[in-house]
Amino acid sequence: MAKRTVKDLDVAGKRVIVRCDFNVPRKDGKITNDNRIIQALPTIKYLVENNAKVILMSHLGKVKTEEDKAKNDLRCVAERLSELVDTKVTFVPVTRGAELENAVAALQDGEIVLMQNTRYEKGESKNDPELAKYWASLGDLFVEDAFGSVHRAHASTAGIPSILPNALGFLVEKEVKMLGAAVDTPERPFVAIIGGAKVSDKIAVVDNLLKKADKVLIGGGMAYTFLKAQGANIGQSLLEEDKIDLAKEYLEKANGKLVLPVDNMCADKFAEDANTMVADSYHIPDDYMGLDIGPKSIELYRKELEGAKTVVWNGPMGVFEMKPFATGTLEVCKAISELPNATTVIGGGDSAAAAIQLGFAEKFSHISTGGGASLEYMEGKELPGIAVISDK
Ligand code: 3PG
Repeated sequence: MAKRTVKDLDVAGKRVIVRCDFNVPRKDGKITNDNRIIQALPTIKYLVENNAKVILMSHLGKVKTEEDKAKNDLRCVAERLSELVDTKVTFVPVTRGAELENAVAALQDGEIVLMQNTRYEKGESKNDPELAKYWASLGDLFVEDAFGSVHRAHASTAGIPSILPNALGFLVEKEVKMLGAAVDTPERPFVAIIGGAKVSDKIAVVDNLLKKADKVLIGGGMAYTFLKAQGANIGQSLLEEDKIDLAKEYLEKANGKLVLPVDNMCADKFAEDANTMVADSYHIPDDYMGLDIGPKSIELYRKELEGAKTVVWNGPMGVFEMKPFATGTLEVCKAISELPNATTVIGGGDSAAAAIQLGFAEKFSHISTGGGASLEYMEGKELPGIAVISDK
């Protein structure tokens, strides 16, 4: 059954708590990419236009020490947000007490309060019921719009909505629709491309997508454990010894669906200025390591993608942060973006960063704002921040 969305709530004059994911990258205290704030705007603007009293909550970074608190102050988000909306935004630098309660009480219809980083409270990550109850007491309704955090059962993502009448925001609604269309009801042929460093990080995704996709193309460091499992000489390439048997098992049960690189861009050290050579996947010299898929693999993956109607991509093909090893990721990104009439979805994290950095942001049907959350969605796991929201 479909989940209730913000449009199903009567928000006028009500105090509406919205959990956003404002966990944005920063350098020297300045936001370097405001995409997550931009993506939260449709819900925030809808609530403002419909005369809600808007109370925004989000985490920022990991907070374990007092020093972490100073590093992860949410004020920078309030400043950016106030440039993007036509209403008053009040930042409250605390997560409980009179200052917060007074700011909420003073809210006029259509105004916004942004509370300090939810992780300033130790109970947030433990989904402490007392904390959830206290935060819930500040609002009448709850809207879940933090897609990047819906895999966390925290007080602000799962605790508050277990108390207040709730709904999904527009961002979570869009993410679930796009990821769901790709992973759960794909138009075929459906090709999945999974990269990244480690088999252990991605095995659950490979497992789920092998059941659903017509082909699963493998890239990145994880490819070498699969190649080793096939008896290849992988030189100094990344290897997870303890995952070789698992890789073997998956290669067997994949029945030809799993496609591995046939050649690789190799280097004599893990550095931008390394000596490089292309080597076929079975004969990487002992003193070299594969750091990207090679030209023949790019051609092979391009062919495998031809005619695809649905493509899901998660994880870079190589060490794309270093120029000599970015070609595989760039070419795969290009090949996906050029597919006519295909639904193309990037499942967040490094591959989303790569696509945006390489200038392909507009060329995909959807780039998820979630890293861990989209990964868990693709693994077929239940996401607690969505499960807790009421059905229509
Ligand atoms: C993310 O960036 O993936 C989300 O904001 C979740 O952050 P977390 O891994 O610190 O919970």
